Amino acid sequence: MENDILDVLLSEEEIQLKIKELGRVISEDYKGKNPLVICVLKGAAPFMSDLIKRISIHMEMDFMAVSSYGASTVSSGEVRIIKDLDASVEGRHILLVEDIIDSGLTLSYLLDLLHRRKAASVKIITLLDKPHNRKIELKPDYCGFIVPDEFVVGYGLDYAERYRNLPYIGILKPEVYTS
Ligand code: PRP
Ligand code: MN
Ligand code: MG
Repeated sequence: MENDILDVLLSEEEIQLKIKELGRVISEDYKGKNPLVICVLKGAAPFMSDLIKRISIHMEMDFMAVSSYGASTVSSGEVRIIKDLDASVEGRHILLVEDIIDSGLTLSYLLDLLHRRKAASVKIITLLDKPHNRKIELKPDYCGFIVPDEFVVGYGLDYAERYRNLPYIGILKPEVYTS
């Protein structure tokens, strides 16, 4: 598995240090708001798990699984809900947790959905932002790192469902996805 990685982009230590800092900011910003922190499965699961341990105020968590479908690798912007939230978001302060924003289509769909369901506020936290291929203008409220336009995997990010279990974020060797 590690043989498929060209380079480590973000080490385990760098990621954890950043998450500690993000947790502090969120705890400050959401004091007294009992935010509903929503993990967008599957990619955001490791980030969610580490982030919530750095949040020092009352909060609740929930999970949503979505998939964008359409022509093979190109997202159509139509997002299908595979697992919906357990509870109502009406009047709640929502923090959407993502591992990466690429085209922006997944999150813009979810933002719209949560607003239609009458959330009091919806903000986005993403570990990684890849602003190069946006199809829709979308800016995260909180962001860990801006990453180059490379094929990154690990710490939740997959290629064909693999590499999510790496503790760091790496650049995948081109021969892995071209062969
Ligand atoms: C990936 C990633 C984000 C989304 C970002 O999820 O985890 O959720 O794509 O891309 P976008 O900004 O172009 O919409 P994916 O659909 O691969 O599902 P996964 O999280 O289960 O890997
Ligand atoms: Mn995802
Ligand atoms: Mg994926």
